[in-house]
Amino acid sequence: MSKALTASFAKKLIDWHGRDGRQGLPWQGIRDPYAVWVSEIMLQQTQVATVLERYPRFMKRFPNVQKLAAAPLDDVLAEWAGLGYYSRARNLHACANQVVTQFGGKFPSDPLLLEQLKGIGRSTAGAIAAFAFHVRAPILDANVKRILARLFGIEGALQDKAVNDQLWLLAQDLLPQDSQEMPVYTQALMDFGATWCTSRKPVCLSTERKCPFEKQCQANLSNQVLELPHKVIKTKSPEFNCDMLLLRHGNSVLLERRPDKAIWGGLWSLPESPWRPKETKDQESQRDGALPEPHINAAQLFEMMLSREDVSALLKSCQSFERGEKIKHIFTHRRLWMQIWNVSIADSVQLTGDGLKWVSLRQLGKYGLPQPIKVLLQGASLVRGDDLRN
Ligand code: ADE
Repeated sequence: MSKALTASFAKKLIDWHGRDGRQGLPWQGIRDPYAVWVSEIMLQQTQVATVLERYPRFMKRFPNVQKLAAAPLDDVLAEWAGLGYYSRARNLHACANQVVTQFGGKFPSDPLLLEQLKGIGRSTAGAIAAFAFHVRAPILDANVKRILARLFGIEGALQDKAVNDQLWLLAQDLLPQDSQEMPVYTQALMDFGATWCTSRKPVCLSTERKCPFEKQCQANLSNQVLELPHKVIKTKSPEFNCDMLLLRHGNSVLLERRPDKAIWGGLWSLPESPWRPKETKDQESQRDGALPEPHINAAQLFEMMLSREDVSALLKSCQSFERGEKIKHIFTHRRLWMQIWNVSIADSVQLTGDGLKWVSLRQLGKYGLPQPIKVLLQGASLVRGDDLRN
């Protein structure tokens, strides 16, 4: 590794941040580890613009780790609704409880201890330690990996353990010597990856701005900036179909609490059939459209998702049953097509199934709903936007 680059990197990056980094974000300059931790978790898979809106709201609702730990998980999930990747909210709640019970309500400053906590990986532990405690701990998220792979001309796949280990060593070597500089350095590294050394339009390929590392960056010197880091070719995620019941009785809809370990775990959704793998285009053309579109009636549909008792109670007072919207939702590793079935029920039917609940439309805002279900209920004019807000 180039000694000159290692020695000058932190200073150059911090200087760059002073000129061109992002300034004035609400989580910058904070030393409260709780506030730093919440911002880092929220920023993990969510755009800065969204976090700017939601972070202050979350902090107002749960201003410290004790308040978050003591809150019911449902309240945390409801506050997280719309931010996606709900395991982050469940981990946040579990981690708050760990901090309260194992660390007396105080986050540890040692990145190795932070990494033991729920939902905190090595890079997030480094970020919290750097921002809140000025510890000389590196971060290595996808943006930082890209910066380092380009700077040092690393050709291997980022998924390789050996390459990953090498990147962590480089990230450690590049840290500023003065630990007081850790917050600004860490923020600068994040900002540089997010805004200048971007995946598709890095600044070095434009004529307007000049990258401070252009003379040292191996990828730039060898004209390989867009090739590095080497991309692994992703296969398309599998597609599934399912049916969902939008059961209405007067001013109420039937919601079902999702099992903790499932997708959307702990959120309130519509009763849902098991998922079926979607036919590929090949399979569809092989059967040459010979079969008609599957026809389904209310009884078959109810049976896929409700107990026998509940099915017969509902069938007795079923007033109307019609095919509704088909909604596509993309998860990290799955694509799901949800066929909604609109059903209205005449009487107030008591249901026995676990986790089923009639919820008044005006109360929906109190429940953590998966984003597409929330949008569906809004779009179907079942509720005004206001009613879904907290
Ligand atoms: N992504 C993760 N942490 C971040 C931070 N502190 N600032 C901006 N983007 C981030």
